[in-house]
Amino acid sequence: MIEILGIHKWFHRGTPQEVHALQGLDLVLEPGDFVTIIGSNGAGKSTLLSCIAGTIAEDAGTIRFHGTDVTSWPEWRRARLIGRVFQDPLRGTCAGGTVAQNLALALRRGERRGLGPGVRRAERELFRERLAALGLGLEHRLHDRVGLLSGGQRQALTMVMATLRTPDLLLLDEHTAALDPKTAAQILELTERTVFSQKITTLMVTHNLAHAIALGNRLVMMHRGRILFDSYGPDKARLRVGDLLQRFHEADAVLNDRMLLTEASSPSTGEGYRPAGHGCPPATNHREGHGPAGSCGHPSQEKNP
Ligand SMILES: Nc1ncnc2c1ncn2[C@@H]1O[C@H](COP(=O)(O)OP(=O)(O)OP(=O)(O)O)[C@@H](O)[C@H]1O
Ligand SMILES: [Mg+2]
Repeated sequence: MIEILGIHKWFHRGTPQEVHALQGLDLVLEPGDFVTIIGSNGAGKSTLLSCIAGTIAEDAGTIRFHGTDVTSWPEWRRARLIGRVFQDPLRGTCAGGTVAQNLALALRRGERRGLGPGVRRAERELFRERLAALGLGLEHRLHDRVGLLSGGQRQALTMVMATLRTPDLLLLDEHTAALDPKTAAQILELTERTVFSQKITTLMVTHNLAHAIALGNRLVMMHRGRILFDSYGPDKARLRVGDLLQRFHEADAVLNDRMLLTEASSPSTGEGYRPAGHGCPPATNHREGHGPAGSCGHPSQEKNP
C-alpha cells in the first residue's frame, strides 16, 4: 500500500505570489491500483507527482511505501521505487547516449554505485527482449543514439526504462500529450499492457477525459490542490465524459481546450483510444469492498472541495 497523507505544498510562501498548490491532499493506493488523474490547469497534479518522486519537497505531510516512511528520502533514493514518464519525450532519456546505454542506466536506477553506462551481454539480451515486445523494431537499434529516435519511439523507450525493473509506483504525467494521436494510442496501449502484465501501481495524469475513463480501475479528479472526486471500479466504468464535465462545472473549474476537445469529439462515451480490456486491477488488489470477481472496486466517494 502506498500512502500519501496530508500533503501541503506552497510556492513563494509568505509573498504576494504565494500559491498553495497542495492543500492537505490524501491519497491511499492499493497494490495494483491504476489511477487516472484529471484536473484543470494548476490543480496541482504535476506538483503531487513531483512531491511523490521527491523532485520537490512538500511542506507538510507523509509519504509511505509499504509501511516505510520515505518522506525524508531524497529523489535518487526514491528512484529505486518509482518509475516516471513525463510529457516531453526528450526528458526521460539522454539523447547523446545509445539506446543500450540509456537502458543500462535505467537498470541501475537508484543505486549509488555502478552508475556507469557500461552494458553487459546478459543485459543486452534483456534489452532486446523488452524492446522487441514494443513492435517498433527498436531491438535492432541498441547502438543508435537516442537523439536519432522519433518522439514516439523515444517515449516508448522511456516507458521501457521506467518499468525495466518493476517499480513500486509508476508516475505518468501527460505522457502522451506531446504525441500525434496515432502514436499516443500506441503508447497508451503499451502503458496498459505494461501496467497490467507487471501489476504496477500507477498514477497517470491526463487531460483527455476519455482516456481517463478508458484506462485504469480508479479515477481521481483534482481541484485547487485537493481531491474533489474519487471513483473506483464499476462506478468508474459507468462514468461518461459528460459526467466529468458536469463535476468540473459544479466546482467552477476552468476547463482547458484539450478537455473541451474530448467533449467535442465524443460527447458521451469518449471515442479515441480503445483499451485492450485491462481496465481492472490485477489480482493482487485486495481492497475491501471489492465486488465479485471481474468487478474492480468500491463505490465512488465524494470529497469535500
Ligand atoms: N516551481 C513553481 N514555482 C511557483 N509556482 C509553481 C511551481 N510549480 C507549480 N506552481 C504553481 O502551483 C500550482 C499547481 O501547479 P501544477 O503544475 O502542479 O498544476 P497541474 O495540475 O499540473 O497543471 P497543468 O494541467 O497545467 O499541468 C499552479 O498554480 C502553478 O502555477
Ligand atoms: Mg501538470
